[in-house]
Amino acid sequence: MIVTIDPLLSADELASARSLLAKASWSDGRITAGAQAALAKNNQQLAEGEQHLPSLRRLVMQALSHNAIFFAAALPLKILPPFFNRYAGAANTYGAHVDGAMRQAPDGSHVRTDLSATLFLSDPDSYDGGELQIDDTFGTHAIKLPAGSLVLYPSSSVHRVTPVTRGERVASFMFMQSMVRDAGRRRLLYEMDMALLQLRETIGETEAVVKLTGTYHNLLRQWADS
Ligand code: NI
Repeated sequence: MIVTIDPLLSADELASARSLLAKASWSDGRITAGAQAALAKNNQQLAEGEQHLPSLRRLVMQALSHNAIFFAAALPLKILPPFFNRYAGAANTYGAHVDGAMRQAPDGSHVRTDLSATLFLSDPDSYDGGELQIDDTFGTHAIKLPAGSLVLYPSSSVHRVTPVTRGERVASFMFMQSMVRDAGRRRLLYEMDMALLQLRETIGETEAVVKLTGTYHNLLRQWADS
């Protein structure tokens, strides 16, 4: 399941992120890639210790924590601190790869990557190329969102970023472990949650809506780990 959140950032949040990024210094993007991914990766990234990284991370994490659609789709248990990357000039692409299954959190614990997300920070008209292509069982999806919008996709899918041939593409990307490990179960819960939201808005809290809401929570109770 590929879910877009359009937008995740408010205009003010996007402006703050951009002013921080304008002051930041970029490093080689291979610093966070595993051996196989490093061969495909050719971009730039903010290194750990970059002085503006903590503020940028806080900004993205706050926006995620306030977004109900993100919560419904990801059912996040642990979100690793977001990264920031730039595709421009000679460092302009990331070939086909799958994200590593396990990543280390800052506290040393391991996080299983169930979901990956990309938050677009450059206006799509300001650069050429730089599509995020995600393969799933229905084919390949090419994604290029407005600045401030986020796409959430299964970490298990093969994906790539096509070469940026004009301008620069700045984005944040992040990995998370879901309370619900199985992607099919996550999709059922998301679809049910969205349908219930619609029912609540159109017909209100009828007895049937209350019962179905109970069923949603009882499924979540069966399937969720904390
Ligand atoms: Ni990736």
